[in-house]
Amino acid sequence: MCGIVGYIGSRDASEFLVEGLRRLEYRGYDSAGVAVIDRGAIRVCKTTGRVDALHGRLLSEPLPGHAGIGHTRWATHGPANDANAHPHVGGLGEVAVVHNGVIENYAGLRQQLEGAGFVFRSETDSEVIAHLIASCLDTQAATDAARANGAGLRRDVHASLVTAVRMALAQLRGTYGLAILFRDHPDVMIAARLGSPLVVGVGPQEHFVASDALPLAGYTDKIVYLADHQLAIVTATSLRITHRELGAVKPSVEVLQVDAGDRTLNGFDHFMLKEIHEQPESIRNAMRGRLDVENATATFGGLNLTPQQLSSVRRIILTGCGTSWHAGLLGEYLIEEWARIPVEVEYASELRYRNPPVDANTLVFAISQSGETADTLGAIREMKRTGHRTLAICNVVASSIAQEADGGIFLHAGPEIGVASTKAYTAQCMTLAMLALYFARMRHLGFEAGRRIIDDFQQLPDKLGQALQTSDQVRYVAEKYQHARNFLYLGRQYNFPTALEGALKLKEISYVHAEGYPAAEMKHGPIALVDQQTPSVFIVPRGFVYDKVMANLEEVKARGGPVIAVVQEGDRRAAQVADDVIEVPSISESLQPLINVVPLQLLAYHAALLRDCDVDKPRNLAKSVTVE
Ligand code: F6R
Repeated sequence: MCGIVGYIGSRDASEFLVEGLRRLEYRGYDSAGVAVIDRGAIRVCKTTGRVDALHGRLLSEPLPGHAGIGHTRWATHGPANDANAHPHVGGLGEVAVVHNGVIENYAGLRQQLEGAGFVFRSETDSEVIAHLIASCLDTQAATDAARANGAGLRRDVHASLVTAVRMALAQLRGTYGLAILFRDHPDVMIAARLGSPLVVGVGPQEHFVASDALPLAGYTDKIVYLADHQLAIVTATSLRITHRELGAVKPSVEVLQVDAGDRTLNGFDHFMLKEIHEQPESIRNAMRGRLDVENATATFGGLNLTPQQLSSVRRIILTGCGTSWHAGLLGEYLIEEWARIPVEVEYASELRYRNPPVDANTLVFAISQSGETADTLGAIREMKRTGHRTLAICNVVASSIAQEADGGIFLHAGPEIGVASTKAYTAQCMTLAMLALYFARMRHLGFEAGRRIIDDFQQLPDKLGQALQTSDQVRYVAEKYQHARNFLYLGRQYNFPTALEGALKLKEISYVHAEGYPAAEMKHGPIALVDQQTPSVFIVPRGFVYDKVMANLEEVKARGGPVIAVVQEGDRRAAQVADDVIEVPSISESLQPLINVVPLQLLAYHAALLRDCDVDKPRNLAKSVTVE
């Protein structure tokens, strides 16, 4: 994980670095730091905690300079403290490095470097890179000196730096996005990528380096995406790229397609709350231009598949992680029900190392809000490697997954800042529902049935808006159970994914343990957890399995467990049995999960507030999980 930035040009480097890091905080926020070259020395400022804390320090002790690098950390090796914060300085202060990724063989390298006299100041895997580069710079300097004496040659300084860095990189096993500063060469910075995304922003007399495009918005609209094994040699006025095997590569400068987005709270106390309230609009945006009412179907511009290829699809794999995986589960129900295409939903972290039999008529969809999740990226790369078409369902347009997939669908949910995914989840569910309609209408689903589904789609935004009005009632429920240490979330069929998602939301932002289960499975084990201190949240809309879920609800009540029921408006029966009832508007059974999840998002939000948790940046998490 972690976010890295770099700058070289005529601006005050720290200013861009801090702003860039703020925009990358979704990648981790355990610590933050910058290094700037100032009057022949690399000066570092770093601190545990958020970019705001770093900014505070820089205000009292400014780091002037026109070349610098910065980092916001999600701890992997070593706890979140000042020493483990990046940048790390190598040798006797000759180089500074910021790193995103994991170095798997760091322990052996560290031993070797310590044996050679290098002094380590942190427990991180990243510090070995700094010392290794310093050591390779020494070796290269000695080689250069010997050659120059022998042949009277003038040294190409940048070429020597590149050789030294390549020598160091060749010894690393793992993944890296790196930005490197050299004390004795303040006019140049080197960036390198293997497995962790990295971009270079091109300005008139300046260059920027960043983990993704977001920090560049507003600074430049020209961007170069580095590929694995590429290394960028960046000065204020030049950009050269070399590939480990291919040598010099012509930089392909693209037009930056992101803006910094709306990152203001707009009167809300937290981004999560704002994003929960944005759902009616984000659902409208996900549908915009994609409903073909005349033909009772959906349309997608970017699938990049011919009608023949689409109609020959016999199996679909949906893959993703966390909340995106939950959206996939709902997608499975919808696609199988409407389009009758067999669907499998795979954790991307499992799919990438499994070797499932996948035939030529299988389509693979990667679902990811950020488009940067390492496991999801790994899974689609593996599928591509074996010759399969991969499509992305992503929110972030210029993301790695969006770029590497053969085609796909953007969510258009707008930037999601709160670490807990809310509006992206409902937009993913909406997109999968449209996809299900699309495939269904290519096969057997009749015009009338398609029209009815579209009618339901069109009602969703307003009904989601009405579901938001449960907030006060949900707050009351959150207060009532604020001392509970465990929750069960139970739902069935279309609302089994809703139960999983509700439980995940509570866990991640309020740190209260919660289990999501298919309601009927409860009696095969989890019912042993039921007692007076363990509330069960039942999602029990009317429909095919209503009576069955009600029976499960009664079973919990019979064992003294408190029950909170999320029901459709006017459901008197559930109200008589449950301790607390949250009524939401009704829509068709298959789309009801998009409404039902709203009070569960709000329940997690209010529970987190009552426990004084940091709603938008929960402990130990990051918005984008770019390590395995
Ligand atoms: C939970 C949450 C995570 C993400 C998961 C995948 O609220 O946000 O579980 O869903 O890390 O992230 P993306 O969708 O960016 O691939």
